[in-house]
Amino acid sequence: MERISELRRYLVSLNTRHLPHIDTDVLVIGSGVAGLLSAVEAARGGRVLIVSKDKLGESNTMHAQGGIAAVFDTSDSFEEHIKDTLEAGQGLCNPKVVEEVIREGPRRIRWLMELGTSFDHEDGHLALTREGGHSHARVIHGKGDSTGMVVEEALLEIVKRNSRISTLDHSFAIDLLAVEGACRGALLWHRHKGKIVVWAKETILATGGCGQLYRETTNSPVATGDGIAMAYRVGAVLEDLEFVQFHPTTLYIAGAARALISEAVRGEGGILRNKKGERFMQRYHPMAELAPRDIVSRSVLHEMRSTDYTHVYLDVRHIPRERLIVRFPKIWSICASFHIDISREMIPVRPSAHYMIGGIKVGGRAHTNIRHLYACGEAASTGLHGANRLGSNSLLECLVYGHRAGREAAAGLKKTKSRAHAYPMEIELEVEKLKGLDLEDIRESLKSLMWRDVGVERDREHLKDAGEKLAQWSEYVLSKEFHSPQGWELQNMLTLAKLITLSALEREETRGVHYRSDFTSRDDTHWKRHITLQNARP
Ligand code: FAD
Ligand code: SIN
Repeated sequence: MERISELRRYLVSLNTRHLPHIDTDVLVIGSGVAGLLSAVEAARGGRVLIVSKDKLGESNTMHAQGGIAAVFDTSDSFEEHIKDTLEAGQGLCNPKVVEEVIREGPRRIRWLMELGTSFDHEDGHLALTREGGHSHARVIHGKGDSTGMVVEEALLEIVKRNSRISTLDHSFAIDLLAVEGACRGALLWHRHKGKIVVWAKETILATGGCGQLYRETTNSPVATGDGIAMAYRVGAVLEDLEFVQFHPTTLYIAGAARALISEAVRGEGGILRNKKGERFMQRYHPMAELAPRDIVSRSVLHEMRSTDYTHVYLDVRHIPRERLIVRFPKIWSICASFHIDISREMIPVRPSAHYMIGGIKVGGRAHTNIRHLYACGEAASTGLHGANRLGSNSLLECLVYGHRAGREAAAGLKKTKSRAHAYPMEIELEVEKLKGLDLEDIRESLKSLMWRDVGVERDREHLKDAGEKLAQWSEYVLSKEFHSPQGWELQNMLTLAKLITLSALEREETRGVHYRSDFTSRDDTHWKRHITLQNARP
């Protein structure tokens, strides 16, 4: 394990005697599907507080389109879903985790349906679609291409009705509070109330991913990797950070936000064409448009280069207009808002950062190496995805591990009958004065650097260059104390960008989503293992 000792433990000074306190049994940080579901489970054991840095619904979950992968069709089988997942993961999945998650998936989905989540049906059965790397149509979806919204809204409703759960939105978790190696809650900053200390017996991190580290991304603005950076500062082990997944088809219209064009569009027959109008994916992989995502992303980039163009096209003009409107209402209306009628015109697309496969290392019960701290959802690294994630396996993992984190936190409460303790803590940081720092400029430079040098294709020279620039920026950004989320987010983004770059530099091979143009083959002799990182000075 690589231990790096350059990070101070807290981002801000604090004196718990002078700050307002909240006591709760379980603190859940994050209100996407993983956080909400874990809260519902944890509430079986006691009082739960969910905090979220934006409004409650804003999350990657809310934007999820394609669906949730699970075995519901009688012609499909658990064995085949397991095989597809292991194959995509290229030797780095934990087979036990894969087996457990895939077998438990349908149970979690039925539970959601019993509580009122409505997924799409066709001919009296759950409607199923295909996505890249899946050998069967096994992706269930809601309101066509709005699966995440359907699940998120149903869970928010359940949470609202649960008298044991309270919520605090627009509350930025700055740091986890740890006493003698055990997590005891977190320090928050509320947009009206300022700093608040939350003391909790059990804490669940469900803060999602970090797509915002990249200039081109499908992710929500909240996805800045705060939870992963926070966990690192407290001494949690991180793993597999080099495995950042890029989605091949993001709407490319200069000046517009990069909206995802779901893989399910290719699952329903969408064809990728280059600038000249030629279909190209069959030249790269036998599964053509439904090849695993890393292959499609690199093929798209290759075509962009060879045709010297900014994008390629996704062609759905052969699919009936009525079908497009019913099956992909969200994509239809996003494109229409840019005056693109997708039944007549091709959709301009290119790849962008989509999903963090690695994260906070957790065991089978969602526990981290820090006592009383659990992690689930995209922030966690469970071993399900290995070196590449199959489409729609993420929401599945959120359901299973969200449930586990909540269940384990509730079980943890049973062991301690007393209320959450308040611990006197006084941290006085020695920091440099803030002088003339343009945070927005550094943030944009970081995103461009990560896209250019730590993106879809990597090599030693560019990774080293990125590492040096990030180290230089860190010297003056990480040594300061900020007083608002803009500064803390930037500090978290810099921390994580450095760790991703370091891991990507270390892995001298190509595997799954990690493509090294200077080491183009998979090297099982040296690299059939995980890269883990831990802050040596928590
Ligand atoms: P999120 O849903 O991202 O929630 C994170 C939460 O943490 C938010 O509430 C946020 O406010 C909060 N938070 C973060 N930092 C802080 C902080 N410092 N303080 C307080 N709160 C904080 N996967 C699939 O399986 N199927 C799909 O169809 C699919 N489609 C996708 C489409 C898009 C556009 C994107 C971006 C992703 C998609 N994914 C899909 C991936 C999947 O949606 C995510 O991996 C999953 O929703 C993550 O859920 P989560 O609960 O872990 O995190
Ligand atoms: C998509 O709809 O293409 C995204 C699915 C996923 O990321 O799992």
